[in-house]
Amino acid sequence: AIFGPGRRNSKGVNMNVLDQWLPLQAAMASFMDQQWQGAPLVGGKRLQGDSRAVLCPYQRSHQVGEVVWASAEQTHSAVDQLAAAFPAWNATAVDQRASILERTADLLEDNMPELMALCTREAGKSLQDGIDEVREAVDFCRYYALQARQRFALITLPGPTGESNELYLQGRGVFACISPWNFPLAIFLGQVSAALVCGNTVVAKPAEQTSLIAVRCIELMWEAGLPKDVLALLPGDGAQVGSVITSDPRITGVAFTGSTQTAHVINRALAARDAAIAPMVAETGGQNAMLVDSTALPEQVIKDVVHAAFTSAGQRCSALRVLFIQEDIAPRVLELLKGAMAELHIGDPGDRATDVGPVIDSDARDGLLKHVETLKGQGRLIEETPLPDGLDGYFVAPAAFRLDSIRELEREHFGPILHVITWRNNQLDQVIADINATGFGLTLGIHSRNEETARYIDQRVRIGNVYVNRNQIGAVVGVQPFGGMGLSGTGPKAGGPHYLLRFVTERTRTINT
Ligand code: NAD
Ligand code: ALA
Repeated sequence: AIFGPGRRNSKGVNMNVLDQWLPLQAAMASFMDQQWQGAPLVGGKRLQGDSRAVLCPYQRSHQVGEVVWASAEQTHSAVDQLAAAFPAWNATAVDQRASILERTADLLEDNMPELMALCTREAGKSLQDGIDEVREAVDFCRYYALQARQRFALITLPGPTGESNELYLQGRGVFACISPWNFPLAIFLGQVSAALVCGNTVVAKPAEQTSLIAVRCIELMWEAGLPKDVLALLPGDGAQVGSVITSDPRITGVAFTGSTQTAHVINRALAARDAAIAPMVAETGGQNAMLVDSTALPEQVIKDVVHAAFTSAGQRCSALRVLFIQEDIAPRVLELLKGAMAELHIGDPGDRATDVGPVIDSDARDGLLKHVETLKGQGRLIEETPLPDGLDGYFVAPAAFRLDSIRELEREHFGPILHVITWRNNQLDQVIADINATGFGLTLGIHSRNEETARYIDQRVRIGNVYVNRNQIGAVVGVQPFGGMGLSGTGPKAGGPHYLLRFVTERTRTINT
């Protein structure tokens, strides 16, 4: 896909083309046992403190490295320094800021083997997910560079003779970027690159589970020429470091991706400050459905269901959680679903054959297992793919359960658990109403060969990303701008043409000549 003159999405690597895959695999292997060191990065320096071990989610005895978490004092002084650096960075030509992002993109591609090794070792990502993660990070950098060059062009406005009027964009100040572990490179860098290219200085708070990859990413940005004083990284506990950041009156905006609950906490912290009103971009959770009617092609449905529900061990905000099947077609779809689930390969995410790797940590696993036990206790199990013997790590068996209504789900279950509901011919409006009533609005899949039905559903759902006759994950930058509504987020969409506008302030300059 092309997203601007001469610009294309990153090609990535096709694992089925051995000429592409084998060199990458060999290069990646040399990093699989590396020990990475993480620390707060402020003004180009690594700060000292007590370090914590980072353990691999699928080999718990394997240490991936160590990370120092930032203290409250270090966080305050990072914001001091970023506030002081803002005027000069904001005055830097947008072309120069954009060029740094483009060089970062090139360096990400050059360092793909190490970044993929980190994605696998620190975040438990499968090889394909690692490739996609680096590709998306590259795309964000190039796309926002392109957008910034276009958006920051000065607009000359009409006026009476002897008066010139101009409208232009500027950064807002110190922007906080708070990111989740499930896209530890792509979402982390997507937020940071957008905020920086607009002239903001940035305090970045990575997720507790994935600080090492964030540190490596910032080192690459420095190598690309980013001034050392415009970006600080503060690894640490969300409730501690995160709340110090969001309660600081000098923070002029927040880009947050994570759970809906945390978004509410941050929103309240911003509102409680005696400070200028700061915009918040929130990209949060979902209760994503797929609606299948009786005209759908069962084989295609199952391919898309399995991909959308179980890829990344279901740890995508976009992942399918609730499959609605029209009852006439349900027996066939469920039979195919069981067959397809039996074929899923669960195990080491560094193995090319693995479809489903671990979940991120013990809290995630235990929460999912509790939900699974409850549903099993109610006799709702349709199918579960057994875990192979000998796994050491946070694995959850992919499973499908029958529900009567989506209203039974009180929250997002962030893992490889699919819920299935059958609906009758005259219930389509009720199904749509139930999906809307969850309050979430992130992704929806529709499978129907009746265009009228697909259009009817599309016009009535309040969902940010709707996919017809395909799976509902893997939005591509500049192609499927991504983001939800309601409890799923504020918009604007990441990887879309309006994203940067939330990171800027507009100025009008009138000169009497
Ligand atoms: P989370 O809300 O637990 O944490 C996200 C980030 O917020 C982390 O960096 C964490 O340290 C920080 N944080 C926690 N408490 C904080 C506080 N009080 N103040 C400031 N920062 C705080 O989410 P997670 O478990 O890391 O990520 C999974 C969630 O993210 C899921 O709900 C998923 O749906 C969502 N998600 C959404 C999108 C999207 O684009 N809509 C993309 C990826 C993930
Ligand atoms: N943007 C990611 C996807 O579409 C979350 O799967």
